[in-house]
Amino acid sequence: MGVAHKGKMIQIPEHYKGREQAYFKHSLLRAYLERLFMIVGRHQKTVCYVDCFAGPWQEKGEDLEDTSIAISLKILTNCKEGLRRRGKDVHFKALFIERDQKAYAKLSTFLESKRKQGIESIALNGEFVDVRREILSWCGNDSFVFFFIDPTGWKQVVEPSTLEPLLQRPNSEFLINFMYDFLLRIHTQKPFEDDMVKVFGEIPVTEGMTPAEKEEHLVTLYRRYLKTVVPKRGGKPRTISVKVLKPLKDRTLYHLVYLTRHPLGIIKFMEASQDLDLVQRKVRAQAKQETRVKKSGQEELFAAHEQVTEKEGHVDIATVKEYWMKHLTSQPIKFDIEKLADMLEETGWFASDFQEAFKKLEKEDMVKNLDAKRVRPVNAVNFEKGERLVIIEK
Ligand SMILES: C[S@@+](CC[C@H](N)C(=O)[O-])C[C@H]1O[C@@H](n2cnc3c(N)ncnc32)[C@H](O)[C@@H]1O
Repeated sequence: MGVAHKGKMIQIPEHYKGREQAYFKHSLLRAYLERLFMIVGRHQKTVCYVDCFAGPWQEKGEDLEDTSIAISLKILTNCKEGLRRRGKDVHFKALFIERDQKAYAKLSTFLESKRKQGIESIALNGEFVDVRREILSWCGNDSFVFFFIDPTGWKQVVEPSTLEPLLQRPNSEFLINFMYDFLLRIHTQKPFEDDMVKVFGEIPVTEGMTPAEKEEHLVTLYRRYLKTVVPKRGGKPRTISVKVLKPLKDRTLYHLVYLTRHPLGIIKFMEASQDLDLVQRKVRAQAKQETRVKKSGQEELFAAHEQVTEKEGHVDIATVKEYWMKHLTSQPIKFDIEKLADMLEETGWFASDFQEAFKKLEKEDMVKNLDAKRVRPVNAVNFEKGERLVIIEK
């Protein structure tokens, strides 16, 4: 299956057919890890990747190429090499946890076959909850750690209390597969009340809400509760989430919840997810069309993925303009990366939405960037420089 994206054809590997959601998950992991490791590798001696629910699972590709195991190892190898070329010798290491004996055996054999690539990697056979201390001692105290938490269920996994020992670790980031589809179905059922308190910090009340409101409410509750167990020291905890939809139905399967204590983390994560958002919409349109054609036996005139526009999936620009007007005054306010991270976290919109809306407001003489250069760059606001923005008084 192939879809056109930014003038290029993206070929979705055959072994992701029918499990397109895994393709998005892996694409996001790949895109973000690469950005992240190239940044943290500049000032970190040791960088760790911990796959807490490694698999292999439902793999179809040879050499596990459609698993987070092979994907992460490849990224670690590439980043190590990329940083070495820039004169930085970073120690990259990876830990993979798997409880299933058969999968663990496959995992161990795979890691053994990749030993020569220069990445220290080990597999651990066990239940995640039982090996949390072992994981932390393997990480040591001086390294940066990225934890990937991608279970098959939610119990004894995603509850903030279960993750607490890891969440307490400074210099760490998390990507958590939040099984929304499961939790939506059970969150109002009496037998699960205690479990829901463990996941959300309270029993969620969603009566009378639309499906979209329920989703917003449940994910927000989880993100908020997660942050309460992160220690205050080491930077303000921030979370953001990305939806992964069922390939053939317009329903959310899970959210990938990302947690960091660095504002740049949120910014880079949203950059990676913006690119994928469009790919996800195109691949789903294509998969749905293929199913329709198979059922009807009739070809359709236009390729469905070509009808998907960049605009869809973005917030209405008028709403973003309103946001700017509410947050600016006639007194200059400095907008730096901390502020941008706050804005992305609060709204879930993309940085490009804020840039476009500000540009429009500037054209309408509503706002001004006091630090903008005469020659206008692509972006209306350079958050890295922390530019001063104002509302123009009429
Ligand atoms: C969704 S799969 C992982 C997929 C993998 N992250 C990927 O993207 O290719 C979850 C894996 O975790 C394992 N697993 C499930 N519960 C576990 C637990 N409590 N402790 C350790 N491993 C577990 C399962 O056997 C399965 O292989």
